[in-house]
Amino acid sequence: SDSDPLQDFCVGDLKASPSLNGFPCKSSVSASDFFFSGLGIPLNTSNRNGVAVAPANVLTFPGLNTLGLSMNNVEFAPGGVNPPHSHPRATEAGVVIEGSVFVGFLTTNNTLFSKVIHAGEMFVVPRGLVHFQWNVGKGKARLITSFNSQLPGSAVLPSTLFGSMPEIPNAVLTKTFRTDDAAVNNLKSKFAV
Ligand code: GLV
Ligand code: MN
Repeated sequence: SDSDPLQDFCVGDLKASPSLNGFPCKSSVSASDFFFSGLGIPLNTSNRNGVAVAPANVLTFPGLNTLGLSMNNVEFAPGGVNPPHSHPRATEAGVVIEGSVFVGFLTTNNTLFSKVIHAGEMFVVPRGLVHFQWNVGKGKARLITSFNSQLPGSAVLPSTLFGSMPEIPNAVLTKTFRTDDAAVNNLKSKFAV
């Protein structure tokens, strides 16, 4: 859903300041600007969520500048969860490369659409909707996801709400979640940056 390009390409000059539609174009371009090896590197999933994401977006692969798309490599340990998040600037399509993954998204009416899918199967997440994935297989799982934006952005709900800098006041969060300071402080302690 990015704007249409006005030239064949415009490899981003990341040292320059981005403007409304991405980065200024780099003046000297070569073949290597249009290739990126970063989606095949094995990721370390030993973290609390059991998930790791390697993005191929304009910031890691500047050849994508103005082209309106990007991809991620997402790897899961057994039981790993990619927590609920949304991409404000893109619809997401993904394919399972390995394993069995419970994939779900939520409509703005709070209906959950979900399914367990396996290697070779694809899913889609409409732009901006909250979604998550959970590795339900016995072994590792891996997805390749793609976005119709060079920089889809990701609002990850738990860290947005409980790990922001500065913090959202407890008065807001206790009322929002109909709970008390102890519960909110416990969550904040887990997401503090
Ligand atoms: C998965 O949801 C991803 O954003 O790569
Ligand atoms: Mn996503």
